[in-house]
Amino acid sequence: MKDRRPLLAANWKMNPAPLPMGASPGQIPECYKAHGAVDVVVFPSFLDIPRCVAAGLSVGAQYGRAEPSGAFTGDVSIAMIKAAGCRYVLCGHSERRRYHKETDDEVAAQAVAALELGLHPIVCVGETLTEREAGKEKAVVKRQLSRLLPQSKLLTIAYEPVWAIGTGKNATPKEAQEMHAYIRGLLPREAKNETRILYGGSANGLNAKDLLTQPDVDGLLVGGASLKVKEFGDMVAVAL
Ligand code: PGA
Repeated sequence: MKDRRPLLAANWKMNPAPLPMGASPGQIPECYKAHGAVDVVVFPSFLDIPRCVAAGLSVGAQYGRAEPSGAFTGDVSIAMIKAAGCRYVLCGHSERRRYHKETDDEVAAQAVAALELGLHPIVCVGETLTEREAGKEKAVVKRQLSRLLPQSKLLTIAYEPVWAIGTGKNATPKEAQEMHAYIRGLLPREAKNETRILYGGSANGLNAKDLLTQPDVDGLLVGGASLKVKEFGDMVAVAL
């Protein structure tokens, strides 16, 4: 048994929250609620954050800008998502890196800002298919994390190979374990054992068990399958 508490993160991306409109807490699917032995966190769109918070869920934002306020049209700051009741924030999801050109420096600044405000950042890293085929996957992940490694406060890290996200082709449990062990090896001594490293990329009801039983896989960051109540429920059950 690992002594790190498993974390299942439901990344709903730019989709409506899979909760009935105006749902009372009693109508919220059980799988999205807090579970004794597993942390379950939902990541709705910004607009759905208030109703998820009101429903009593543990909520994170998919993005937050490091600066507290200012002339950044279309952005939302980490201070704002904290004020809205979020406890977690994704930093550097590959879709943000790709479509919004977020750099390693910006991602590190977001994670540091989140830690300063008492939020839990989940820093996403992962290589593209071209980088993996060139044997550069570890170098890429190391570079993506390098600015955050001296950070003394605890981060959560999500390893999400870009080629596995939304493709139906997950990393094998062996590939995931190999990278997770590598990442753990990069962490400072005082953070090594406590840091949770999640796997993401086509995690689903069929592969959750094999992934979660790997010694260095401490949870899952789930996109598509997290919108399906039954399937996500099965994944939470595996982690329990
Ligand atoms: P996926 O997405 O589970 O749909 O592959 C994972 C993610 O992008 O976090």
